[in-house]
Amino acid sequence: MTVFVTGGAGFIGANFIFYMLRQHPDYRIVCIDKLTYAGNLSTLEPVMSNPNFRFAKVDICDREAVYQLFEEENPDIVVNFAAESHVDRSIEDPEIFLRTNILGTQVMMDACRKFGTKRYHQVSTDEVYGDLPLDRPDLFFTEQTPIHASSPYSASKAGADLMVMAYYRTYGLPVTISRCSNNYGPYHFPEKLIPLMIANALADKPLPVYGDGLNVRDWLYVEDHCRAIDLIIHNGRVGEVYNVGGHNEMSNISIVRMICRELGKPESLITYVTDRKGHDRRYAIDPTKIHSELGWLPETKFEDGIKKTVKWYLDNRQWWETIVSGEYRNYYEKMYGNR
Ligand code: NAD
Ligand code: DAU
Repeated sequence: MTVFVTGGAGFIGANFIFYMLRQHPDYRIVCIDKLTYAGNLSTLEPVMSNPNFRFAKVDICDREAVYQLFEEENPDIVVNFAAESHVDRSIEDPEIFLRTNILGTQVMMDACRKFGTKRYHQVSTDEVYGDLPLDRPDLFFTEQTPIHASSPYSASKAGADLMVMAYYRTYGLPVTISRCSNNYGPYHFPEKLIPLMIANALADKPLPVYGDGLNVRDWLYVEDHCRAIDLIIHNGRVGEVYNVGGHNEMSNISIVRMICRELGKPESLITYVTDRKGHDRRYAIDPTKIHSELGWLPETKFEDGIKKTVKWYLDNRQWWETIVSGEYRNYYEKMYGNR
């Protein structure tokens, strides 16, 4: 079985590659990644010499290069993580979000059609549903919740989801979609809330909380997300969407306070800053479908997951310090420049 994993040098994609090589040691895993600012090849160092793993520096929008890889590897399954993923960046400059997230998805699906790939899986997000009000804790996103995106990022992911369903209906492409809530864990790029707060707190820098800090996200440990995708690509029903989340809603401010406590840093570092434009108030997933159809439940409780995550950032300072310094961008050149 050969599985293409796009965006595998990023946060969730890399965790997924490690997970798959552990769970399915006989599978061949091919990582396709353009190595944008968010891709860090050094993350994949532990699997680089695994004979069942291949890394290809390819842009998913580059049709020729993508078709070439399909020709060479003939994958059975494609899991598309590759995306521009940061909401704040999409507010500054939406264009690359449309290109990678929508057109890149189209190229990957065209390749699957052309080469007869048995499953195309789109890694989507709960953000396509828009947000929920804080004063209605009884409301959750189900797979029937209408698409109602707020940011250029979530609109681009919603556009991709619509294309995926269109390819299913029009061409019969065997697709599945997962829409997951906020992930956290090792290798999370330090521009996102949890790793940014850990890195800043360790450097005794201000901890910038947007608006009133009361926005709520539904946090899931990254390995639980990886397990959900593994279940969906093997046992999920074609043409279906599966929401993934673990009923773990937390306000931003409570998370930042928890990180201060874990690191023994004073809450006086917390600084309220101007709110994100169009900031979604609350996300909350109803995971009934994936639980009842595929038996998935999250395994890591937030109290344990956040401790593990903080410890990982303490034990792997070099990984994120080279990102903060920008040095990680030289890694590919250093390793591949003369090859
Ligand atoms: P990330 O930003 O950490 O990683 C994205 C990866 O994609 C990087 O390695 C980058 O180099 C690569 N990439 C970007 N553009 C590319 C292109 N044109 N061609 C090839 N590779 C390209 O993102 P992440 O947080 O790991 O998210 C992965 C996926 O999961 C995204 O599709 C995102 O929308 C989705 N998602 C993320 C979360 C979350 O909490 N992080 C939750 C739900 C869904
Ligand atoms: O819900 C899934 C989504 O989660 C994914 O689709 C996205 O790819 C991923 O980036 C994430 O989006 P968010 O916008 O929720 O994540 P972020 O870490 O950027 O922000 C989390 C919350 O913290 C949000 O309410 C904004 C706030 N925040 C964020 C940063 C970076 C702050 O208050 N201060 C900050 O410095």
